[in-house]
Amino acid sequence: MNVDLEKIKAVGLASAARAGDIIRQYWNKAVRIEKKGAIDLLTEADLASEKAIVEIIQTAFPAHTIFAEESGIRQGSASCEWIIDPLDGTTNYAHRLPQVAVSIAFALEGTIIFGLVLNPLAEELFCATRGQGAELNGQPIRVSTVRNIRESLLVTGFPYELKPVIRPLMARFERCLMAAQGIRRLGSAALDLCYVACGRFEGFWEQNLAPWDTAAGMIIAREAGASVTDFSRAPFSIEKKEILATNGLIHEELARLLSL
Ligand code: IPD
Ligand code: CA
Ligand code: CA
Repeated sequence: MNVDLEKIKAVGLASAARAGDIIRQYWNKAVRIEKKGAIDLLTEADLASEKAIVEIIQTAFPAHTIFAEESGIRQGSASCEWIIDPLDGTTNYAHRLPQVAVSIAFALEGTIIFGLVLNPLAEELFCATRGQGAELNGQPIRVSTVRNIRESLLVTGFPYELKPVIRPLMARFERCLMAAQGIRRLGSAALDLCYVACGRFEGFWEQNLAPWDTAAGMIIAREAGASVTDFSRAPFSIEKKEILATNGLIHEELARLLSL
């Protein structure tokens, strides 16, 4: 099937820019916060961002499927699907920590061919198109060239439902912490993947993620030269909950540390 890739990119970027404006507007106000779970937050900005993105995409492509975190799936054509996280890093946002992103990916016949991750507060826009490399604010990006874990800065994240996974999660964290130069937990999986893509981190791992957390960041990381798999080194797809993304050079070593 043929799609107008330039139009897809333009509409994705326009919807992210609008969502970014909304996130910046709420940043300067007292935002209303609800709870989806004991520690899983939802702000007005998440909902307003998603509404704006969905409206812009639906107007441009009424027949496409749209899968968005807060409102679920709007079923359309099976071959054209948008996957949206309207605000990745909601806990950060609620605490006024400016590590947040809008994440938008487009999949053609099940393969992601375009992704963008925008941090509207830092004014960083990461983008990638399949086979064409990845960019940060229009400049090409590549993964780092660090070869061993001891010299590596890693990043990870923790799920909201901690109880079922706390033991393997802490075991993996301990092993990586003992082996690496350092580990960060920044609170936006989409940005974590982009930071591997541009060489700020050598590796990222997380378990219990959702498709909207990884869809755009994954193509950006891959296009920048990252290896992206599950913990057992099998190819990653967004239906998988666990992700391991590295500069490639430390992939085996990090995968070994994660295997319990
Ligand atoms: C969360 C962030 C966080 C990750 C969580 C995600 P949200 O997304 O990406 O870094 O550790 O697993 O759920 O809820 O802020 O969109
Ligand atoms: Ca998310
Ligand atoms: Ca979100």
